[in-house]
Amino acid sequence: MSMIVAGVMSGTSADGINVALVRVPPDSTGRARGPSPHKGPHSDFKLLAHEEYPFPDPVRRAILGMMNAELAHVADLARLNFLLGELYAEAVAKTARKHRVKLDLVGCHGQTLYHQGVAARFLGRKLAVTWQTGEGAVIAAGLGVPVVSDFRPADIASGGKGAPLVPFLDHLLYRDRRVGRIAQNIGGIANLTAIPAGASLGQVLAFDTGPGNMVVDAVMEELFGQRYDRNGKIAASGRVLDEVIAQLLRAHFFRQKPPRTAGREEFGREYVGRFLRICGGASKSDVVATATALTARTIEDAVERFVLPKFGTRRQQRHQMIVSGGGAKNPTLMAMLRNEIAPLGIGLHFSDEFGLPAEAKEAVAFALLAHETWHRRPSNVPSATGARRAAILGKISYA
Ligand SMILES: Nc1ncnc2c1ncn2[C@@H]1O[C@H](COP(=O)(O)OP(=O)(O)O)[C@@H](O)[C@H]1O
Ligand SMILES: [Mg+2]
Repeated sequence: MSMIVAGVMSGTSADGINVALVRVPPDSTGRARGPSPHKGPHSDFKLLAHEEYPFPDPVRRAILGMMNAELAHVADLARLNFLLGELYAEAVAKTARKHRVKLDLVGCHGQTLYHQGVAARFLGRKLAVTWQTGEGAVIAAGLGVPVVSDFRPADIASGGKGAPLVPFLDHLLYRDRRVGRIAQNIGGIANLTAIPAGASLGQVLAFDTGPGNMVVDAVMEELFGQRYDRNGKIAASGRVLDEVIAQLLRAHFFRQKPPRTAGREEFGREYVGRFLRICGGASKSDVVATATALTARTIEDAVERFVLPKFGTRRQQRHQMIVSGGGAKNPTLMAMLRNEIAPLGIGLHFSDEFGLPAEAKEAVAFALLAHETWHRRPSNVPSATGARRAAILGKISYA
């Protein structure tokens, strides 16, 4: 029987909640059918609706304050967990009501407070850890439907980095017999899934390229008191400081081989402080332009270093980059990115052209991942996360 699943995403930008309502036919992933024929970009699930709910300012400030906080009160962390559960439930309820949809299941990513995919020493042991907050039990109780949440720990427990998890959907959507494709999401962090022509799920490569909108947003807040550079207007009026970009590109992170993951731990407050110092006395719009170019340049760099070698070098072959996430709404960033990847023989496209609005894709992914979990099927992609084995992701809260 097909199920109607709500996918809920709130990313590292902490800008708000995305809710996608998806109708998933049984065996939608093709796993039960064995080696499936290529179905082209439109797979057999259907996006019924998508809505976005910005966080109220005080909630956003609290979330940002508690990410990687040196000092955060345990009581406040516990409260945030329940508060977010309520906000997620309200966002889903509103969306379902508006579109007159009766839900069967919810998949909620939650809000990442801390993610460290590479093991580090703690009390005499080496541990990789991750923490998403937003209580599943509260969402289930609020909506009266079961909720799958907390997707990442099972992958870490299986030896993976806990991220990225979206390659499961990317492969389903974008695999192609002849064209090599890169699904590039630009949220707070930018991450890609590279799918060589004819690749099976086990052959995809996926990793975080570096900052997405995170540095631009932080600089906008610092210099202009605004959440983000709406439509890339300010970046468009500035000049890119090439020396700054060249210096930043030398950082260890960008040379690190995939799989690799990033978050506010790498590109948050401290990084932005350093970035602003390096920009020195440059004009405010030049600083925003440079932060924007940093995203485009680091994506190009990652593609050239790590993806093109996997795509092969047959001449005249065109590859495609398919962009999703809030960064797709920034025309200045998109123009920079298009220019960066054109010499690599890669054309720029938007996930909208493939039937998924740019801002909905990640929420859709968590609906599908929840669906897999509900059917007791694994959905991490070990080649992407580095896990030793396939794992069933998430925890289920029953209504
Ligand atoms: N119209 C727009 N113009 C410029 N940037 C935008 C626009 N809409 C969204 N963004 C950017 O996208 C970000 C949110 O992207 P999103 O994909 O939701 O990231 P995350 O997954 O980290 O929450 C915003 O913080 C902003 O930087
Ligand atoms: Mg967001």
